[in-house]
Amino acid sequence: MDHPQEPPSGIHPLLAGRFSPYRFDRSAVVDDHALGLLLEAARWAPSAGNSQPWGFFVGRPGEPEHDRVLPHLAPSSARWATDASLLVVTLTRRYVDTSQLLYSEFADYDLGQAVAHMTVQAQAMGLAAHQFRAFDLEGLTKELDPNPGWVIVSMVAVGKAADGPSELRGRRSVAHLRSAPWTPDE
Ligand SMILES: Cc1cc2nc3c(=O)[nH]c(=O)nc-3n(C[C@H](O)[C@H](O)[C@H](O)COP(=O)(O)O)c2cc1C
Repeated sequence: MDHPQEPPSGIHPLLAGRFSPYRFDRSAVVDDHALGLLLEAARWAPSAGNSQPWGFFVGRPGEPEHDRVLPHLAPSSARWATDASLLVVTLTRRYVDTSQLLYSEFADYDLGQAVAHMTVQAQAMGLAAHQFRAFDLEGLTKELDPNPGWVIVSMVAVGKAADGPSELRGRRSVAHLRSAPWTPDE
C-alpha cells in the first residue's frame, strides 16, 4: 500500500479533513444539542426498505452510561477513548427476535452508513470520531443486554482531536479498488 497520501483536491473538505484521532482533548464537552445532532445525522441515513435497523447507547464522562461502558474497553482503545467527550456503542437489528431469520440482509451495511453520517456530522461540528472494535464484546453485550435479534457491532469515540492524522492511514489506489476483485492476491 502506498502511504502516506493526502486526499486530492476536489474531495469535499469534510471528507478530506476527517481522520480517526489517537488523542482527544479531555476538557472538551459534547453538550446535549451536539449529541442530538449527531444522532439526527445517523437517523437520516438511508437504509434498505427504510428498515432503520440501528440503535445507539451513548455515554459522556460523568454519566452512569459512560461508567457502564468504560470497563469493557480493551487496553489499546482505553488509551485514547477514555479522554473522548462521548462514547457511542452501535447496535444493529440483525435477526428477527431469537430466530436465525435475518431482519434485513443489509442490517450491518445500513448501520455502517448511519455511523458514517454521524462521523461527517461530527466533522462539520468541529469534532472528530474514531470508530473501534477493541472492546470486550461479550462483556459489553452482557452489561447492556439488548433485546433478542440486536447485536453490538462497534463503538465510536467522539470529541475534539488533540493530534493530527496518523502516518499509517495510507490508501490503496483508485486503480486498485477498480481491479482488486478480479486480480489474484499479491
Ligand atoms: C469497524 C471499524 C473498526 C475499527 N476498529 C479499530 C480499533 O479497534 N482500534 C483502532 O485503533 N482503530 C480502529 N478503527 C479505525 C481504523 O483503524 C481507521 O479508520 C483506519 O486506519 C483509517 O484511518 P482514518 O480513519 O484516520 O482514515 C476501526 C474502524 C472501523 C470502521
